[in-house]
Amino acid sequence: GEYLTREQQEHILLAAEALVKEKLERDSSGHDWWHIYRVVQTTKRIAAQEGADAFVCELAALLHDVVDEKLNADPAAAQRELEAWLAASGTPEADVLHVLEIISTMSFKGGARPPMRTLEGQVVQDADRLDAIGAVGISRVFAYSGWKGRPIHDPSVTAREQMTEAEYRAGNDTAINHFYEKLLKLKELMNTTYARQLAEERHRFMEQYLEQFDLEWEGLR
Ligand code: ADP
Ligand code: NI
Repeated sequence: GEYLTREQQEHILLAAEALVKEKLERDSSGHDWWHIYRVVQTTKRIAAQEGADAFVCELAALLHDVVDEKLNADPAAAQRELEAWLAASGTPEADVLHVLEIISTMSFKGGARPPMRTLEGQVVQDADRLDAIGAVGISRVFAYSGWKGRPIHDPSVTAREQMTEAEYRAGNDTAINHFYEKLLKLKELMNTTYARQLAEERHRFMEQYLEQFDLEWEGLR
Protein backbone atom coordinates (compact mmCIF):
# COMPACT_ATOMS: atom_id res chain seq x y z
CA GLY A 1 0.00 0.00 0.00
CA GLU A 2 0.92 3.66 -0.04
CA TYR A 3 3.14 5.01 2.68
CA LEU A 4 3.41 8.60 3.86
CA THR A 5 6.33 10.16 5.67
CA ARG A 6 5.56 12.03 8.90
CA GLU A 7 6.21 15.23 6.96
CA GLN A 8 3.59 14.33 4.34
CA GLN A 9 1.14 13.44 7.09
CA GLU A 10 1.76 16.80 8.80
CA HIS A 11 1.10 18.56 5.51
CA ILE A 12 -2.29 16.84 5.13
CA LEU A 13 -3.22 17.51 8.76
CA LEU A 14 -2.40 21.22 8.37
CA ALA A 15 -4.55 21.41 5.23
CA ALA A 16 -7.42 19.66 7.06
CA GLU A 17 -7.03 22.12 9.92
CA ALA A 18 -7.32 25.08 7.53
CA LEU A 19 -10.41 23.57 5.91
CA VAL A 20 -12.14 23.01 9.24
CA LYS A 21 -11.24 26.43 10.62
CA GLU A 22 -12.75 28.09 7.57
CA LYS A 23 -15.92 26.00 7.81
CA LEU A 24 -16.56 26.24 11.56
CA GLU A 25 -15.39 29.78 12.24
CA ARG A 26 -18.85 31.28 12.36
CA ASP A 27 -20.59 28.61 14.46
CA SER A 28 -22.00 29.27 17.94
CA SER A 29 -23.89 26.00 18.52
CA GLY A 30 -20.96 24.35 20.28
CA HIS A 31 -19.33 23.09 17.12
CA ASP A 32 -16.78 25.83 16.93
CA TRP A 33 -13.09 25.44 15.99
CA TRP A 34 -12.05 25.23 19.65
CA HIS A 35 -14.24 22.14 20.11
CA ILE A 36 -12.26 20.54 17.27
CA TYR A 37 -8.99 21.73 18.80
CA ARG A 38 -9.83 20.11 22.15
CA VAL A 39 -11.01 16.86 20.54
CA VAL A 40 -7.74 16.70 18.57
CA GLN A 41 -5.66 17.28 21.72
CA THR A 42 -7.54 14.60 23.66
CA THR A 43 -7.47 12.26 20.65
CA LYS A 44 -3.65 12.48 20.49
CA ARG A 45 -3.39 11.68 24.17
CA ILE A 46 -5.72 8.65 24.03
CA ALA A 47 -4.26 7.40 20.73
CA ALA A 48 -0.72 7.38 22.17
CA GLN A 49 -1.87 5.51 25.24
CA GLU A 50 -3.99 2.97 23.33
CA GLY A 51 -1.51 2.40 20.49
CA ALA A 52 -3.88 3.64 17.76
CA ASP A 53 -2.81 5.01 14.34
CA ALA A 54 -2.13 8.66 15.17
CA PHE A 55 -2.57 9.97 11.61
CA VAL A 56 -6.00 8.39 11.05
CA CYS A 57 -7.14 9.45 14.53
CA GLU A 58 -6.02 13.03 14.12
CA LEU A 59 -7.46 13.42 10.63
CA ALA A 60 -10.82 11.97 11.72
CA ALA A 61 -10.85 14.19 14.83
CA LEU A 62 -10.23 17.29 12.70
CA LEU A 63 -12.97 16.43 10.21
CA HIS A 64 -15.54 14.75 12.49
CA ASP A 65 -18.04 17.64 12.56
CA VAL A 66 -17.79 19.09 9.03
CA VAL A 67 -20.75 17.09 7.72
CA ASP A 68 -22.92 17.60 10.83
CA GLU A 69 -26.51 18.43 9.95
CA LYS A 70 -26.51 21.24 12.53
CA LEU A 71 -23.86 23.02 10.48
CA ASN A 72 -24.99 22.24 6.97
CA ALA A 73 -28.19 23.18 5.22
CA ASP A 74 -27.34 20.37 2.82
CA PRO A 75 -25.48 17.55 4.65
CA ALA A 76 -25.36 15.35 1.53
CA ALA A 77 -23.50 18.09 -0.35
CA ALA A 78 -21.15 18.54 2.62
CA GLN A 79 -20.47 14.79 2.55
CA ARG A 80 -19.61 14.92 -1.17
CA GLU A 81 -17.32 17.92 -0.58
CA LEU A 82 -15.54 16.06 2.20
CA GLU A 83 -15.06 12.97 0.04
CA ALA A 84 -13.70 15.09 -2.82
CA TRP A 85 -11.35 16.94 -0.47
CA LEU A 86 -9.99 13.71 1.02
CA ALA A 87 -9.53 12.11 -2.40
CA ALA A 88 -7.45 15.10 -3.52
CA SER A 89 -5.52 15.44 -0.23
CA GLY A 90 -2.85 12.79 -0.84
CA THR A 91 -4.25 10.58 1.92
CA PRO A 92 -3.86 6.86 1.09
CA GLU A 93 -7.14 5.36 -0.09
CA ALA A 94 -7.41 2.92 2.83
CA ASP A 95 -7.04 5.81 5.29
CA VAL A 96 -9.64 7.87 3.38
CA LEU A 97 -12.16 5.03 3.71
CA HIS A 98 -11.27 4.55 7.36
CA VAL A 99 -11.71 8.26 8.19
CA LEU A 100 -15.04 8.41 6.32
CA GLU A 101 -16.28 5.35 8.21
CA ILE A 102 -15.35 6.93 11.55
CA ILE A 103 -17.11 10.19 10.69
CA SER A 104 -20.30 8.54 9.46
CA THR A 105 -20.48 6.28 12.54
CA MET A 106 -19.93 9.28 14.83
CA SER A 107 -22.59 11.40 13.18
CA PHE A 108 -25.15 8.61 13.02
CA LYS A 109 -28.54 10.00 14.06
CA GLY A 110 -31.50 8.11 15.40
CA GLY A 111 -32.16 4.89 17.27
CA ALA A 112 -29.66 2.04 17.54
CA ARG A 113 -26.24 3.63 17.20
CA PRO A 114 -23.84 1.32 15.37
CA PRO A 115 -20.79 0.39 17.48
CA MET A 116 -17.44 1.85 16.43
CA ARG A 117 -15.62 -0.91 14.53
CA THR A 118 -11.98 0.17 14.80
CA LEU A 119 -9.72 1.28 17.65
CA GLU A 120 -9.07 4.59 15.86
CA GLY A 121 -12.81 5.29 15.67
CA GLN A 122 -13.24 4.37 19.32
CA VAL A 123 -10.50 6.81 20.28
CA VAL A 124 -12.00 9.76 18.38
CA GLN A 125 -15.52 9.00 19.62
CA ASP A 126 -14.21 8.90 23.19
CA ALA A 127 -12.43 12.24 22.74
CA ASP A 128 -15.62 13.81 21.34
CA ARG A 129 -17.66 12.48 24.27
CA LEU A 130 -15.06 13.66 26.79
CA ASP A 131 -15.51 17.19 25.42
CA ALA A 132 -19.19 17.01 26.42
CA ILE A 133 -18.39 16.36 30.10
CA GLY A 134 -16.27 17.97 32.81
CA ALA A 135 -15.64 21.72 33.09
CA VAL A 136 -15.69 22.22 29.32
CA GLY A 137 -18.79 20.06 28.97
CA ILE A 138 -20.60 22.22 31.56
CA SER A 139 -19.72 25.37 29.59
CA ARG A 140 -20.94 23.82 26.35
CA VAL A 141 -24.34 22.87 27.80
CA PHE A 142 -25.09 26.44 28.78
CA ALA A 143 -23.74 27.85 25.52
CA TYR A 144 -25.97 25.46 23.57
CA SER A 145 -29.01 26.10 25.75
CA GLY A 146 -28.60 29.85 25.44
CA TRP A 147 -28.29 29.50 21.69
CA LYS A 148 -31.58 27.56 21.73
CA GLY A 149 -33.19 30.12 24.04
CA ARG A 150 -33.76 27.58 26.79
CA PRO A 151 -33.75 28.29 30.54
CA ILE A 152 -30.87 27.32 32.86
CA HIS A 153 -33.10 25.40 35.21
CA ASP A 154 -36.72 24.88 36.16
CA PRO A 155 -37.36 22.56 39.09
CA SER A 156 -40.84 21.79 37.73
CA VAL A 157 -39.41 20.39 34.51
CA THR A 158 -39.27 16.64 34.77
CA ALA A 159 -36.66 14.42 33.22
CA ARG A 160 -37.05 14.03 29.48
CA GLU A 161 -37.94 10.35 29.86
CA GLN A 162 -41.03 11.43 31.77
CA MET A 163 -41.94 14.20 29.34
CA THR A 164 -44.53 13.74 26.66
CA GLU A 165 -43.28 14.19 23.10
CA ALA A 166 -45.40 17.37 22.87
CA GLU A 167 -43.84 18.87 26.01
CA TYR A 168 -40.39 18.12 24.71
CA ARG A 169 -41.12 19.64 21.29
CA ALA A 170 -42.55 22.71 22.99
CA GLY A 171 -39.05 23.35 24.25
CA ASN A 172 -39.75 22.23 27.79
CA ASP A 173 -36.13 21.36 28.21
CA THR A 174 -33.52 23.01 30.41
CA ALA A 175 -29.74 23.05 30.55
CA ILE A 176 -29.69 21.26 33.91
CA ASN A 177 -32.01 18.60 32.55
CA HIS A 178 -29.49 17.81 29.84
CA PHE A 179 -27.00 16.60 32.47
CA TYR A 180 -29.44 13.94 33.64
CA GLU A 181 -30.71 12.86 30.26
CA LYS A 182 -27.30 12.64 28.59
CA LEU A 183 -24.09 13.92 30.14
CA LEU A 184 -24.08 11.79 33.30
CA LYS A 185 -24.49 8.72 31.09
CA LEU A 186 -21.47 9.35 28.86
CA LYS A 187 -18.88 7.92 31.29
CA GLU A 188 -20.40 4.47 30.80
CA LEU A 189 -20.18 4.80 27.03
CA MET A 190 -16.40 5.20 26.80
CA ASN A 191 -14.85 2.64 24.43
CA THR A 192 -11.25 2.67 25.64
CA THR A 193 -9.76 2.05 29.08
CA TYR A 194 -7.75 5.25 29.06
CA ALA A 195 -10.72 7.47 28.09
CA ARG A 196 -12.71 5.79 30.83
CA GLN A 197 -10.06 6.92 33.32
CA LEU A 198 -10.19 10.48 31.98
CA ALA A 199 -13.99 10.39 32.15
CA GLU A 200 -14.01 9.48 35.86
CA GLU A 201 -12.53 12.81 36.96
CA ARG A 202 -14.70 14.85 34.62
CA HIS A 203 -17.78 12.94 35.77
CA ARG A 204 -17.06 13.57 39.46
CA PHE A 205 -16.55 17.25 38.68
CA MET A 206 -20.04 17.45 37.10
CA GLU A 207 -21.65 15.61 40.03
CA GLN A 208 -20.01 18.03 42.44
CA TYR A 209 -21.14 20.95 40.30
CA LEU A 210 -24.77 19.74 40.27
CA GLU A 211 -24.78 19.19 44.02
CA GLN A 212 -23.52 22.73 44.64
CA PHE A 213 -26.02 24.08 42.08
CA ASP A 214 -29.00 22.54 43.91
CA LEU A 215 -27.83 23.87 47.26
CA GLU A 216 -27.34 27.39 45.91
CA TRP A 217 -30.73 27.22 44.18
CA GLU A 218 -32.44 26.76 47.55
CA GLY A 219 -30.20 29.27 49.29
CA LEU A 220 -28.48 26.57 51.30
CA ARG A 221 -24.93 27.52 50.34
P1 ADP B 1 -21.46 16.45 19.33
O1 ADP B 1 -20.27 17.34 19.58
O2 ADP B 1 -21.20 15.05 19.77
O3 ADP B 1 -22.01 16.55 17.93
P2 ADP B 1 -24.04 17.54 20.09
O4 ADP B 1 -24.20 18.13 18.75
O5 ADP B 1 -25.05 16.53 20.54
O6 ADP B 1 -22.59 16.92 20.34
O7 ADP B 1 -23.99 18.71 21.14
C1 ADP B 1 -23.01 19.72 21.12
C2 ADP B 1 -22.91 20.31 22.53
O8 ADP B 1 -24.16 20.87 22.89
C3 ADP B 1 -22.60 19.25 23.59
O9 ADP B 1 -21.66 19.75 24.51
C4 ADP B 1 -23.93 18.96 24.23
O10 ADP B 1 -23.83 18.64 25.60
C5 ADP B 1 -24.67 20.24 24.04
N1 ADP B 1 -26.10 19.94 23.88
C6 ADP B 1 -26.66 19.13 22.96
N2 ADP B 1 -27.99 19.04 23.14
C7 ADP B 1 -28.27 19.81 24.23
C8 ADP B 1 -29.48 20.14 24.94
N3 ADP B 1 -30.65 19.65 24.60
N4 ADP B 1 -29.36 20.97 25.99
C9 ADP B 1 -28.17 21.48 26.35
N5 ADP B 1 -27.01 21.22 25.73
C10 ADP B 1 -27.05 20.39 24.68
NI1 NI C 1 -17.89 16.93 18.05
